[in-house]
Amino acid sequence: MTRPLGVALLGLGTVGSAVARAMGDREKRLAATAGRALRLVGACARDPGKPRDAGGVPVTADPFTLLDDPEVDVVVEVIGGMEPARDLQLAAFERGKHVVTANKELVAREWRQLHEAARLAKRELRFEAAVGAAIPVVAAARALGAVRPRVLSGLLNGTTTYICSRMEEGAAFDAALAEAQAKGYAEADPSADVDGWDPAYKLSILVSLLEGRWFPPDGVRRSSLRSLTLEQVAEAAARGSAVRYLAVADFGERATKARVGIEEVRASSLEGQATGPTNVVRLETDLAGTLTFVGPGAGGNATAAAILGDVIAIAQRGA
Ligand SMILES: NC(=O)c1ccc[n+]([C@@H]2O[C@H](COP(=O)([O-])OP(=O)(O)OC[C@H]3O[C@@H](n4cnc5c(N)ncnc54)[C@H](OP(=O)(O)O)[C@@H]3O)[C@@H](O)[C@H]2O)c1
Repeated sequence: MTRPLGVALLGLGTVGSAVARAMGDREKRLAATAGRALRLVGACARDPGKPRDAGGVPVTADPFTLLDDPEVDVVVEVIGGMEPARDLQLAAFERGKHVVTANKELVAREWRQLHEAARLAKRELRFEAAVGAAIPVVAAARALGAVRPRVLSGLLNGTTTYICSRMEEGAAFDAALAEAQAKGYAEADPSADVDGWDPAYKLSILVSLLEGRWFPPDGVRRSSLRSLTLEQVAEAAARGSAVRYLAVADFGERATKARVGIEEVRASSLEGQATGPTNVVRLETDLAGTLTFVGPGAGGNATAAAILGDVIAIAQRGA
């Protein structure tokens, strides 16, 4: 009988705990869709003593006890940020493990180094959860290799959509940001949201997949949402429009231009109607027309769904 596919979680916060819970409450479904059982070998967190809603998974503060464990086949990195996430992903490849991650910053910034490490190790690097959480936009971008993309535009950040929609209701920028933080939409450092880094990382990943080569996040022109005023929002509303913080890539004949910033959309559009963590991705192409993806772009459970989809894909390939 095939032994279960061993999974280790590096990080047991919002996303890691949701992955642990889902692995505990749908064992049969995961085994059926993966073609073999999945086993959560253990998890790593900064403070292993902290109370968490993550089932009975053993927790360590030392990631190397998991990286060195021969029972671990797949390392799920959900710590976030650059270090130690980067070193841990590279250490996982060196030890012959597959890596699944939700870490858009690291994937966008270290695209080449991580892909090269995976290639040398003959292991997979998967990151469906890094863009649009449960919406399979990474899979879609991979599947569209034959089409020429023309324009990609979308809402890739829930915090800024929330702020824009609350300002439509008259809330001031700072109050709306504080509410987004209280609701758990905002990144730990709000600058990642309101200064556009978070959607720039996601746009960089999608453009890199669609073009088949790395499009660095520093190549995305960013303008902050901080300059948005209630007057601008009201003027847009008077025109039947809504203000949203859009990520746009224009795939021109010569060079692709990518930007993140304040734009007007029709108030009745999917983008104009979105009020919180709903993400919208529209992709205009030559062969495939316009494709639109909508769904929850953040949240522990939605992100866990994408991570486990990647683990299942690795199991199906006979890892
Ligand atoms: N939250 C979302 O909705 C969402 C959606 C899509 C993608 N993501 C991405 O998913 C990743 C994780 O996000 P999150 O919201 O789950 O973050 P989080 O709640 O802050 O959790 C981070 C986890 O990493 C652990 N950790 C931090 N530093 C560590 C270290 N040096 N060694 C070992 N463990 C360490 C923390 O331990 P302690 O618990 O002991 O502090 C915590 O368990 C990020 O890359 C984020 O961008 C999140």
